[in-house]
Amino acid sequence: MSRRPVGTGRRFGDSGSFFPFSGSSHSKSKSSPLLSIALILVGAVVVIFIVKGGSGFITVNRVAFSKVEGDFLCTLEVQRAIPVLKKVYGDSMRKVLHVGPDTCSMVSKLVKEEETEAWGVEPYDIEDADATCKGLVRKGLVRVADIKFPLPYRPKSFSLVIVSEALDYLSPKYLNRTLPDLARVSSDGLIAFTGLPGRQKAKVAEVSKFGRPAKMRSSSWWVKYFMQMSLEGNEAAAKKFEQAATKMSYEPSCQVFHLKSYH
Ligand SMILES: *[C@@H]1O[C@H](CO)[C@@H](O)[C@H](O)[C@H]1NC(C)=O
Repeated sequence: MSRRPVGTGRRFGDSGSFFPFSGSSHSKSKSSPLLSIALILVGAVVVIFIVKGGSGFITVNRVAFSKVEGDFLCTLEVQRAIPVLKKVYGDSMRKVLHVGPDTCSMVSKLVKEEETEAWGVEPYDIEDADATCKGLVRKGLVRVADIKFPLPYRPKSFSLVIVSEALDYLSPKYLNRTLPDLARVSSDGLIAFTGLPGRQKAKVAEVSKFGRPAKMRSSSWWVKYFMQMSLEGNEAAAKKFEQAATKMSYEPSCQVFHLKSYH
C-alpha cells in the first residue's frame, strides 16, 4: 500500500522539475514567484488527489473482494457437495486435489472428512487470506498458481481432481491447456463445477480480479468441448450423483460434470 504514494510522489517530482515555462518565466516576469506558488499548489492538489484516489482504489478493491467471495456460487457449491461426492466416489475421495477460488476453505473442509487427504490450487491472489489459509500455503497443502500453466504434479498424483468456478474464467485457448492437465494429474476422475448461463453476472470487480469476465457456457457447449478434448463422461458417477443429490436434498445451482481420467 505504501508503494503507490511513493511512486506517485516521485513521478510528480520528476515532472515538476521539468516544467518548461517555469524556468523561463522566472527570469522575465515579475509574477514568477506567484506563478511558482500557483504551480506548487496545483502540484500539491494533484498529489493529494492521486494519493487519495490511490488508497480509495485499494479500499474499494478490498470491499469488492469480500463481496465477490460471497457471490462465488460454485465455490460455495463445491463445499456443500462434499457429502454427495463422498457417497458417489467413496474410496476415490482419499486423495483429492481441489482447484479454484477459496480453495483453502475447501481443503480445510475436506481434511476433516475421514480417510481424506486434500490439496488445493488457488488460481488467484491470496493477499487478503486469513491466517488458516496462509498456514495451509506454508505447509504446502495449498499452492497459489496460475492454472494457465502446467500444474507442478506428476501424472495421476491424485485420485480425484475437483475444479470449481475457475474454468469459467478461461478462454478456449487456455482451457485447451488447463483441462487436459487437470485430467493428467488425476487417476480416478475429474469433476468440474461450472456456472450456469444466466445465473451469474460479471461484475467490474470480478473482471479486475480475474483479468477477464466469467463466461458461463451451456452444458451442451461443455459436453461438446469435453469430447473435443477426448475426455469421456463418467455416466455411472453422474447417475449416482443425481440419485445421492436427490436423496440428500442437495440441489446444485451449478453445472456438475463427471469426467474420466485419461488412461
Ligand atoms: C482447442 O483444441 C481443440 C481440439 O484440439 C481445437 O479444435 C481448437 O481449435 C482449440 N482452440 C483453441 C482456441 O486453440
